[in-house]
Amino acid sequence: MCGIIGILGQTPVAPLLVDGLKRLEYRGYDSAGIAVIEGGHLASLRAEGKLRNLEAKLAGNRKAGRIGIGHTRWATHGVPSERNAHPHLTERVAVVHNGIFENFRELRLELEAAGRVFSSDTDTEVMAHLVTANLADGMAPLAAVQAALARVRGAFALAFLFEGEDDLVIGARRGSPLAIGWGAGEMFLGSDGIALGPFTDEITYLDEGDVAVVTRAGAVIHDETGRVVERPVTRTHGNTYVADKGNHRHFMVKEIHEQPEVTGRTLAHYLDLAEGRARPPEGIDFSRIDRLSITACGTAFYAGFVAKYWFERFARLPVDIDIASEFRYREQPLSKDGLAIVISQSGETADTLASLRYARVEGQRIAAVVNVRESTIAREADVVLPILAGPEIGVASTKAFTAQLAVLAATAIAAGRARGSIDDVEEARLVAAFSEVPRLMHEALRLEGQIEALARDLAKVKHCLYLGRGTSYPIALEGALKLKEISYIHAEGYAAGELKHGPIALIDEEMPVVVIAPFDRVFEKTVSNMQEVAARGGRIILVTDRKGAEAAAIDAAATIILPEMPASVTPLVYSIPVQLLAYHTAVFMGTDVDQPRNLAKSVTVE
Ligand code: AGP
Repeated sequence: MCGIIGILGQTPVAPLLVDGLKRLEYRGYDSAGIAVIEGGHLASLRAEGKLRNLEAKLAGNRKAGRIGIGHTRWATHGVPSERNAHPHLTERVAVVHNGIFENFRELRLELEAAGRVFSSDTDTEVMAHLVTANLADGMAPLAAVQAALARVRGAFALAFLFEGEDDLVIGARRGSPLAIGWGAGEMFLGSDGIALGPFTDEITYLDEGDVAVVTRAGAVIHDETGRVVERPVTRTHGNTYVADKGNHRHFMVKEIHEQPEVTGRTLAHYLDLAEGRARPPEGIDFSRIDRLSITACGTAFYAGFVAKYWFERFARLPVDIDIASEFRYREQPLSKDGLAIVISQSGETADTLASLRYARVEGQRIAAVVNVRESTIAREADVVLPILAGPEIGVASTKAFTAQLAVLAATAIAAGRARGSIDDVEEARLVAAFSEVPRLMHEALRLEGQIEALARDLAKVKHCLYLGRGTSYPIALEGALKLKEISYIHAEGYAAGELKHGPIALIDEEMPVVVIAPFDRVFEKTVSNMQEVAARGGRIILVTDRKGAEAAAIDAAATIILPEMPASVTPLVYSIPVQLLAYHTAVFMGTDVDQPRNLAKSVTVE
């Protein structure tokens, strides 16, 4: 969480810093700030709330410095406020920080006892004071930073600006991402390649423990032992990113509508549609794998949950699926010939990255299903399975989810072939089924008008349940997550068969129950659960197909009828109505759809 930018330029950098921060707002948006060197001195400007508040302040208070650092915040320590916004300044140094200093309390007490006065509630400010104290002891900037880094525990990325230094930014990375951008007579620092996209496409990603001394002439990188090291310069894909909503009101709905195209592209990459074959992923021999563990957070976790059903059914491969924040501490024994799949849109989620590292220590081969190919998770995995979704800007994940599903489905089919659990005919049948998904998604999108009308009523409720069985169970969980994160309506997803074991007590005439029920082999069982809801007056919104609508014979408040399709592909297509329902409900409620409160697109803290 939090986005960092640094620029050593030839012209005033304040507008460029803001431009870079706009591209990092997905990492947090509760306050923002910049610091520059003006007339040899540190000067800063900070504002609570969205970046536009900082922009408004800058319009009335132009900053002339040609070197600066900037930050967009997702609060961890200290409420979102101007006082807690970064950069944090002392008389000698300004610092921006992404991550957490776990031992900041003891350090703050020590620094206060030594007479340092704090002006925020953040953990970050201890770093500014530690470096300042070291500078006051006569250390040069690099040594002052290195000595301060040795005092802190936690995961972080940092950028420093120094009083009186018009050609120096120091960056440091331990746990959170940080990249250097190379220009001609200009240099840049940023949390990712997207932030640096407008300035350069030549990027160096810092490694764990690196400290970079950046001047306009270039960067000298020191590893965690202090040795000068070379890190490769790569070309980033981030420079093509343009924050453009097209004709859409929000990025989220734009991204929902992109799904037929994105999924089609992703499936075509992983499936040979003409030959009816799944392309075996390079670097994974599924015939030698005896167990699969899948780890992820949030929506990516639900993609993994669907994949569990696919891998078990298509490949007869046992799958453990875990939320990354649990997996990393559970100390579960992993099989000797196991494969770990981590799934992450951003490729930077702290818990997912930690799970990857745990799996590595346990001797697993590691495959990463990611959207951002330059991300830390992608770089640390043995095998990268890119989802090819393009930049996803809406904080609520939509097209990345279905693209993750596309990759995982294709990989599960390939695993089935490699393990001999499906034959040529079955493989061709599955590939043909998935090749229909883009068309089916188009048809699902045509139901938007009906779903929007339903959302008008849903926007009036306080609670909502989602039910599903089989692969529709994770889609129910995802539907509930989508609704709560952007509309702030309390929603829960349940396995339909679990309802009678407790949640049924919640059902009354006020409770909408969204039932995801394609006409598949568990349909009849789901109908029984719907009957239980109907008998207690619950308002059922049934998402099904024509056969399901006829067979349900139930008095639903509304029925959303999708085209008929093979059971294997329903998770991809049934995602669309649940996304649209959440989206339009949030629009009726007037929430900030693309940047919902308290959330961030990339969660780089535990
Ligand atoms: C999705 O709508 C959420 N905003 C969130 O659950 C997200 O999927 C989760 O934080 C994982 O992110 P990642 O895919 O970037 O790792």
